[in-house]
Amino acid sequence: RKKVIIDTDPGIDDAMAIFVALRSPELEVLGLTTTFGNVHTALATRNALHLLEAVGRTDIPVVEGSHVTVKKATKLRIASFVHGSDGLGNQNFPAPASKPLDQSAAAFLVEQANLYPGQVTVVALGPLTNLALAVELDPSFPKKIGQIIILGGAYSVNGNVNPAAEANIFGDPDAADIVFTCGADILAVGLNVTHQVVLTDADREKLEQSDSKYARYLSKIMGIYFDYHKDAYFIKGVYLHDPTTLIAAVNPSLLTYTEGVVRVQTVGITRGLTVFDNTKKRYAEMTAWSGMPTVKVAVTVDAPAVVELMMQR
Ligand code: BDR
Ligand code: CA
Repeated sequence: RKKVIIDTDPGIDDAMAIFVALRSPELEVLGLTTTFGNVHTALATRNALHLLEAVGRTDIPVVEGSHVTVKKATKLRIASFVHGSDGLGNQNFPAPASKPLDQSAAAFLVEQANLYPGQVTVVALGPLTNLALAVELDPSFPKKIGQIIILGGAYSVNGNVNPAAEANIFGDPDAADIVFTCGADILAVGLNVTHQVVLTDADREKLEQSDSKYARYLSKIMGIYFDYHKDAYFIKGVYLHDPTTLIAAVNPSLLTYTEGVVRVQTVGITRGLTVFDNTKKRYAEMTAWSGMPTVKVAVTVDAPAVVELMMQR
C-alpha cells in the first residue's frame, strides 16, 4: 500500500478527499497535517480530529501545521464564504475529544520521510507552507520524500481567487515557489483539470440515501459548497478539487501529465500566479527557468471515472 500523508485545510472538498483516502485499500494514511486556507490552522486541526472521530479512525495521527506563512505573515486569506465559518458547512459539530501530536507538521513530514525513504507520498490540499518549512528544516527532504501531489495552481486558465491565482497557491506563494523548485518528484493538479470534475445534485442525493456513514456525513456538509458554486460559477454542482488530487494518488492513470518548470509569482497583482514552461531550451539564458527542477502538471482527466471512484469509495 502507498504510504500517504495528507496536508490539509478542512474544508468541505478536503473532507471528501480524506474520506476517499480512508476508504481506499491502495493507501495507508500515515497522518493528517494541517494548514490554514479554508479556515485558520487551529480550526483545521480541530476539523481533522473531528473528521477522524466521525468515522472511528482516531488511530491516524493529526499534526498541527504552521499558523503563519513561510515569511511569517499573519494576515491570511481564509475562505469561510466557500466552506462556512467552521470550514465544514456550518454544522456546529461538537469539539473533538482527541488531540494532535505534540510535534510540528514540518518535523512530522521530515521524520516520516526519514523513516520510509522514497516511500511516502504527500498529498497537499492546502497552501504549501508546511512542505516549504520541511524543505528548510532538512534540505535533503526533497530527495527523501517519495512524491508530492499538489492541488495547486491554474495552468493556462484563470485562477479562482482572482484571474491570476488559485486559492492554495495564493495562500502562500513564497512557500509554493520553494516547493515547486525544491527538486522533489512533484505532480501538480490545477484548476484546468479540476474544473472538469463536477459532483452533481443527483450525486449528492445518492450520497444522502447511501447506507455508508462516510457518504451521509459528506452529503450533510455540502450544502454551502453547492450554494457557492451556483453563485460564483452558475453551475448546479461542485468542483472536486481535493478528491481529484487524492485520486491521482490512488490511480494516477486517470490523469495525463506534461513535464516542465513551474515558478510562482510572489509579488504584485499577479501574486500567486503559476507559470509553467515546458519548452526546454527556449529560455536557455534565463537562470530563473533553465536548469530548474521540472515537475509534472496534469493536463487531462477522465472526469466520469474520478467521480465514479469518489462515489464508490
Ligand atoms: C482549493 O482551495 C480550497 O478552497 C479547496 O479546499 C481546494 O484545496 C481550490 O482552489
Ligand atoms: Ca483544500
